[in-house]
Amino acid sequence: MSKVLIIYWSGTGNTEKMAQLISQGAKSAGAEVELLNVALAEPDMVDDYDVIALGSPSMGVEVIEEEEMEPFVEDIKDKVSGKKIALFGSYDWGDGEWMRDWQERMSKYGAQVIDAVITREAPEGESEQECVNLGVKLATL
Ligand SMILES: Cc1cc2nc3c(=O)[nH]c(=O)nc-3n(C[C@H](O)[C@H](O)[C@H](O)COP(=O)(O)O)c2cc1C
Repeated sequence: MSKVLIIYWSGTGNTEKMAQLISQGAKSAGAEVELLNVALAEPDMVDDYDVIALGSPSMGVEVIEEEEMEPFVEDIKDKVSGKKIALFGSYDWGDGEWMRDWQERMSKYGAQVIDAVITREAPEGESEQECVNLGVKLATL
């Protein structure tokens, strides 16, 4: 059975909802899922998974969240080479710059970036389905 690790940061719950939908999709396709707030995640957990989804909203000025997610990403940078990584997160007024930068950064670390899903505010309707579909895709990699 495929194993998927999902780690996220969320201030007002939008990215958390995306994480839950991704988890739901992956489980529906038969994956074993570990879903964790980044505050509870350890960098070493990454070693046990080949498929990992990381989520952060756009914060600061078009950056990932700086207190918890940024140091976590820094801590795993030497562990992600060759791993299949999906990125996701919510934003509001921007154009998705933070996610483009994050994708580029993970690729530089050697990760195989599978997908990057962004949702304006809370996932609803089509964007909800997009998150579920991402989970299904991760389960079948
Ligand atoms: C301090 C702060 C900075 C933000 N900076 C940006 C930004 O640069 N670009 C953007 O599109 N949205 C920005 N946002 C909006 C959030 O990304 C948006 O509200 C998102 O839905 C929050 O997701 P969450 O509920 O998972 O915390 C910012 C929000 C806050 C509170």
